[in-house]
Amino acid sequence: MHERQSAPDLSTILCGVRLPNPTVLASGILGLSHEVMVRVAQSGAGAITTKSCSLKPRPGYHNPVVLDWGQGLINAVGLSNPGVEVLAEEIRAAKEQLAPLGVPVIASIFAETIYGFGAIARFISEAEPDLIEVNISCPNIDDLYRLMFAADPYVAAQVTRQVKQNTDIPILLKLSPNVTDVTKIARAVVDAGADGITAINTLGPGIILDVETGRPVLAHGTGGLSGPAIRPIAVRCVRDICRAVDAPVIAVGGVTTGRDAVEMVLVGATAVGIGSAVSRRGTEVFQNVCDEIQDYMERHEYDDLEAFRGKALQFSG
Ligand SMILES: Cc1cc2nc3c(=O)[nH]c(=O)nc-3n(C[C@H](O)[C@H](O)[C@H](O)COP(=O)(O)O)c2cc1C
Repeated sequence: MHERQSAPDLSTILCGVRLPNPTVLASGILGLSHEVMVRVAQSGAGAITTKSCSLKPRPGYHNPVVLDWGQGLINAVGLSNPGVEVLAEEIRAAKEQLAPLGVPVIASIFAETIYGFGAIARFISEAEPDLIEVNISCPNIDDLYRLMFAADPYVAAQVTRQVKQNTDIPILLKLSPNVTDVTKIARAVVDAGADGITAINTLGPGIILDVETGRPVLAHGTGGLSGPAIRPIAVRCVRDICRAVDAPVIAVGGVTTGRDAVEMVLVGATAVGIGSAVSRRGTEVFQNVCDEIQDYMERHEYDDLEAFRGKALQFSG
């Protein structure tokens, strides 16, 4: 048996950018103000994704917009955000304070048209985020485009090309599980120049009723599902994507513990997003997940994430 000299190395390289550990704050969870982004990084996150922002401010839907239904969350926030000008300022401020911690910032963007994606990519790039995540997959915006961008490989590729033409910053396309074959979308965006993929966005939409009144509990009616209930679907999507394309993946969907994060690395993930679990375990979830990954690596005598990344891809099914 070889003697371990030092603690396992949890760092990972995502599209050329170093993360001190593989945990990433998922988009839409606490990523609006630089103060909160810094607090999450100080709590141990390896990268911070901002709330998705649009060119103009969006008010979003009326409350209630989120509910913990026991097996996870259902939400219909409606992509409320203060618009790219405000977000760009927050990114600048966050970057300054996160640089000493070595924690990169991922700017999440969305738009209502293919050209709109190009415009917002150009604007947000001036704030110099380390990476850009292109959200083509929010299921709640039925007044705008619903699944138009994420469900069609041709359209998803068009968005990718638009964004690439407007920025030199590496981009990840955030995909939806609500498609017949996620690998077709993954191949299309990677062929169109995506540097990486984030998978998955929320599943659904679904509905939860107040049975006393018969009304949906969310003001919007339907909402996207996240948290532990969707994790097996996220694992399958990440595995299929990692088999289909040679591009780094941020695996998101139901990750709550180090065991869940390890599962994502085993199916090929380069980094692991955490969203809903922040509401259950608090911002300490990032440090806790890292400690739990480290315990696993010590038990298996793995020196780094590379030692077990993709190990599960060999199994059929
Ligand atoms: C309240 C809430 C708001 C969200 N907002 C966004 C968003 O603005 N942009 C985005 O790409 N994903 C958004 N998501 C999706 C998450 O980033 C993530 O993909 C999804 O929740 C699955 O991960 P989880 O199970 O760890 O939460 C949101 C999720 C929740 C619960």
